[in-house]
Parts: sequence; C-alpha cells; structure tokens
Amino acid sequence: MDDASVARRVVLGVAGGIAAYKAAEVLRGLTEAGCDVTVVPTRSSLAFVGLATWQALSGKPVATDVWTNAHLVPHVRLGQEAACIVVAPATADLVARAATGLADDLLTNVLLTARCPVILAPAMHTEMWEHPATRHNVAVLRERGLLVLDPAVGRLTGADSGPGRLPEPGAIVAAVLDVLRRRGGALTRDLSGRRIVISAGGTREPWDPVRFLGNASSGRQGVELARTAITRGAEVTLVAAHMDLDPPAGCRVVTVGTAEDLRVAMHAECAAADVVVMAAAVADFRPSVVGSSKIKRSAVADEVSLPLAQNPDVLHELVEARRGSSSPFIVGFAAETGDATGDVLHHARAKLARKGCDLLVVNDVGEGRAFGRPDNEVVILGRDGSRVDVPRADKADIADAVWDAVVRDLV
Ligand code: CTP
Repeated sequence: MDDASVARRVVLGVAGGIAAYKAAEVLRGLTEAGCDVTVVPTRSSLAFVGLATWQALSGKPVATDVWTNAHLVPHVRLGQEAACIVVAPATADLVARAATGLADDLLTNVLLTARCPVILAPAMHTEMWEHPATRHNVAVLRERGLLVLDPAVGRLTGADSGPGRLPEPGAIVAAVLDVLRRRGGALTRDLSGRRIVISAGGTREPWDPVRFLGNASSGRQGVELARTAITRGAEVTLVAAHMDLDPPAGCRVVTVGTAEDLRVAMHAECAAADVVVMAAAVADFRPSVVGSSKIKRSAVADEVSLPLAQNPDVLHELVEARRGSSSPFIVGFAAETGDATGDVLHHARAKLARKGCDLLVVNDVGEGRAFGRPDNEVVILGRDGSRVDVPRADKADIADAVWDAVVRDLV
C-alpha cells in the first residue's frame, strides 16, 4: 500500500441505532473520496444493517468481535494503523462505553488502541442526548481530544423531532476529510471551548413575493470556516443566508433571508460569543418598496426603475455594540476590486479603519476570482497593522489561516 493510501486509512464504526443505514452512504462517500475504509459495526447494529452490506460495500471482511481472524490481532492493528476513526452513528451506549474505556467488542477495542484522530457522530433521542450521563460522557471524550460532533436538529425515529439526528452523511464525510487534510494527523484543539458565530451566504432582498435582489455568494468560505472551527474544537453557530451547499456537521444553524433578518440574528447570537466572523455577503441595498403581490409585466413601463434603500452595516454595528470592550473578537471580510482611486489593499485598509473590526480578510473579487470557487487567495489585515498573505489555496486552508490569525490575537 502506498503512502497516500496509508494516510487515508479510515475505520468506520457503526453503533446500534436506526441511523446505522445512513452509515452506508458515509462509507460510499469516503470510498469515493479515495479513502481505504474498514467497517467495524457493533453486534447490535447488525439488527439494523447486516454484515453482508458492509462486506459488499467495503470489499473487505467485516467483524464485530475480537475473535474473528484473531491471528491478525485486529483489535490492535486496526486502531494503530488508522489515519482517522469515525463512528456514525455513535449511540448513547457507545458514547458511554468509549468514555469509560470499556473494551467489550471490536469497536471499543479499536477506540482504545487508536492514536489517530477520532470523530464521533452521535445520533439518539433528544432525551438521551440531553441526559446528564450523556452530557458528562461527551464532555469527558471532548476533554480527551475526541471530536464529538453535536447532532443535528430534526426528525428522529418516529414523528418526534429535536436535537439527536445524525448529521447528513455528506457532512460527516467532509468532517473526516477535513481531519485527513491536516498534515501530521493530530487534531489541533486550539479553539476548544470558544463560542464562534459565523455568518455565511448571500442575503436576498425581496422586491415582490417571487423576485429578490441577490448576489453571487455560494457560502462556501463561511461553511469551511465553520467546519474547520468545529474540527479545532469550537462550538459553532452558523447564521446562514442563502447558500449553495449544506452546513457542516456539528454546528447550530440559524437560517436567515434578508440583511435585516441577518442583523437581528447576529445581534442575538453575538451577545454570548467569543469570536464573530462576518463571511456573509450582506446586500448593501434593498428595494425601497416591497410589493405584496407579484408585479405584473403589464403594470410597468418598458423601462423599469427600482428605488433602493441602504441596509445597515451589520459588521460596523457589531463592533459598536462592544462599546470599547475587546469581546467578542470580530473578523470581517472585504470583497474588493482595484480602481482608479487605489488598489485592493488601499481600499481594504480604509475599510478596516471604517469598520473597526479586529481582522479583515481581503478578497480580490475582480474577474470571478473568489465567488463559488473551491479556492481563494487572501490577505489578512490586523487592526494593529499586521499583514498575512495567504497564497492561493483551498477555502478550507484559507479558513485555517484565518483561525491561525484569530488564535494569535485572541486573549
Ligand atoms: N457587511 C455588513 N453589512 C452590510 C454589508 C457588508 O455587515 N450591509 C460586512 C460583510 O459581511 C463583510 C464586510 O462588511 O464582512 C465588508 O463587506 P463588503 O461588501 O466588502 O463591504 P461594504 O461594507 O459593503 O462596502 P463596499 O461595498 O462599499 O465596498
């Protein structure tokens, strides 16, 4: 096996919950991303998805106990050789066994021998997730450096709904890939315990019930900021305007439409935040008058003019709301183009002074250079005059560079 596949060896643990069927999609996603996946289901999970499914989908033998193929010492080898272990779903029982260090089946043995990053994607009923025993176990595991993703909020097994749902398989795959992307393999937990609020996507300003003014933001940079912050241990709330992609696994999502919705949500969420990042493309203008019914083509002249009103500058308001205190730490983004009056950095420095935030991540958006692309190139300017140039890289790497700058300055 070459070095690249060793670096992508993943153990997928599957515990006994109804969401076990979704692990098949996680397996498929990891395999398609080039990972070499060994599935380790618990015995009770086989009541939901059988061994044959895991063997066929992974193309490998699959066992639940330490006695199968004992001559290969799988309970030690799998944990030692993995580049990442992900358990999806992680039930309340699995979380409890992992927290207490029990080793009564192959999966818990693998968890004890692992020296690589471990991700648990819990799925259980809300009552079980909120039970003090589970809260304690999750806290113990996080303290130990495991990445325990918060479950999603939504429909559970029956008609009930609440926190406890397994995050979407694609988001779990993305969390694993984010861990594998980090060279050296170790999880950096330098945002552990930090409450971070990130706005992402583009606001939409209605003109009538079917039309709006929007913008080209895909939300990708904000999503990568959220995902990488979660990987680095933060508790993340994503204030999501219109986005072309799903939010990452493990964050709280507050959905907003207009700049005014976003403004209200950001003020509410930021009160208890340690760090705020305004990655959203907030519309500067909105139609002055919003039609209550669809504006008919026949009702307007050949040339239509649309009066616009200015929206508030949310970033500036959040800075003002700190009233001179240094908390929360506030990061702004600047979409800039050079013009006859100055280059991109000239405009960005003026914007940093105007907005008053702690860091400004400057994007040159001329000629489709940033919007919707998987990569970007930014300059991070600090209020103290600092400047970090981040060369063209994947937006996940850009996000990590932003967090590096935040960690450097955060008191
Ligand atoms: N922003 C905001 N509220 C607005 C507009 C922008 O909070 N109404 C935030 C953005 O989220 C970003 C920063 O301000 O973090 C800079 O956004 P940008 O579009 O570059 O600047 P503008 O303030 O809109 O200034 P201009 O369009 O004149 O360059």
